[in-house]
Amino acid sequence: MTSSSPNIALIRKVSDLRQRVSHWRGDGCSVGLVPTMGALHDGHLSLVKKAKAECDRVVVSIFVNPTQFGAGEDLAAYPRDEKSDRSLLDALGVDALYAPGVDEIYPKDFSTMVQVEGVSEGLCGAVRPVHFAGVATVVTKLLMQARPDAAYFGEKDYQQLCVIKRLVCDLDMDVRIVGVPTVREADGLALSSRNAYLKKSERLIAPVLYETLIEIAEKIEAGGDPEQLAALGREKLLKAGFRQVDYLEVCDSVTLVPVSVTAGELRILVAAHIGKARLIDNVPAKGPA
Ligand code: PAJ
Repeated sequence: MTSSSPNIALIRKVSDLRQRVSHWRGDGCSVGLVPTMGALHDGHLSLVKKAKAECDRVVVSIFVNPTQFGAGEDLAAYPRDEKSDRSLLDALGVDALYAPGVDEIYPKDFSTMVQVEGVSEGLCGAVRPVHFAGVATVVTKLLMQARPDAAYFGEKDYQQLCVIKRLVCDLDMDVRIVGVPTVREADGLALSSRNAYLKKSERLIAPVLYETLIEIAEKIEAGGDPEQLAALGREKLLKAGFRQVDYLEVCDSVTLVPVSVTAGELRILVAAHIGKARLIDNVPAKGPA
């Protein structure tokens, strides 16, 4: 058996990334960026496939961003496997893997944070106070570094997607933000690197999260009361074996403000703890026509 060396370029430095991207641009190629923290699964890969379908050249970044983890969160335990991630990306025909070290992104004396107000503040932002400033800062930097035509983000992290759309609009960044639907296991559980924290018994309970969201979406469509349905949903999760529900809310799909009446496009979002894992999920919803 012969093992061929990967075609995908491995880039560690901002200067090398800039050089490569400007070379591509000089050739008239469009560029797509897929930011990730690695430990790639089919959810990440669906973003990569979408980027490949839409852009001439694709860069995937892998950077476990310390500023988006709060004290006591799983930064140290976060799964890392660059070698296997790189070969997955190579097999999909990705042009470059940008995997900078922490000092490349946050050199000594780094002092700027990007804070998106409003849409960052509720839901996950209320429970993880530094999280979205860390996300907004690193995504701003990655967009400035790669200067892509389009950048791809999963609807799995719906509040993150809304924060990024807001910042790109507010800061006049010339990039198209593309949201990609959530990839799920056969039983409905959204793919996530954090599913690896689930014990067997917890894994059996985890799909109740999605099941509950779908049930609420159906009842809202039939004219149900969003606040009442959210409260019932929280109870159902606790009964099923989730040990804590951070939030389960029916929100406006753009501002993410919880609604008390069903008007316009809605999003139902949840974060709940089971065992060592904190799982998040969301689905779209619409009131009765
Ligand atoms: P990470 O959790 O690695 O996710 C990278 C991208 O993959 C995000 O846009 C996320 O929404 C998407 N994704 C994860 N699971 C998915 C699934 N099951 N279906 C579809 N898309 C999925 O999100 C981050 O990293 C970071 O916050 C980052 C944006 C890279 C900034 O550090």
